[in-house]
Amino acid sequence: MKQVIVITGASSGFGALTARALARAGNIVYASMRETKGRNVPQATAVRSYATEYSVDLHPLELDVSSPESVDAGIASIISECGRLDVVIHNAGHMPH
Ligand SMILES: NC(=O)c1ccc[n+]([C@@H]2O[C@H](COP(=O)([O-])OP(=O)(O)OC[C@H]3O[C@@H](n4cnc5c(N)ncnc54)[C@H](OP(=O)(O)O)[C@@H]3O)[C@@H](O)[C@H]2O)c1
Repeated sequence: MKQVIVITGASSGFGALTARALARAGNIVYASMRETKGRNVPQATAVRSYATEYSVDLHPLELDVSSPESVDAGIASIISECGRLDVVIHNAGHMPH
């Protein structure tokens, strides 16, 4: 069955790759990232282009994991569109160097 999935930190790296792979596998995937209207505009656009190119259910979503208001708004918009959320993949973060 199709799962409704949100992935945090999907602007780059593992998050971006996982979002695309899970969408290609037939799921409804929200590739969440912060600053979708700022510095991550190209990344959000790339998500939309990928969805069109491969005819998959993949959507960019504004969600900053460090802001409770942003998390609430992001999750609420998924519930409003899909009626449910099945899987949360919490990937956002940076490696300390
Ligand atoms: N690469 C490794 O070898 C390795 C090993 C072990 C664990 N990990 C973990 O795996 C995860 C992904 O790593 P990666 O190598 O794919 O790193 P990456 O390319 O730097 O991706 C990290 C992602 O987290 C996002 N992020 C950071 N803070 C955020 C916040 N407050 N709200 C929303 N998104 C936020 C970044 O978004 P922005 O573009 O907005 O900054 C970026 O999309 C990280 O949690 C990392 O600690 C990585």
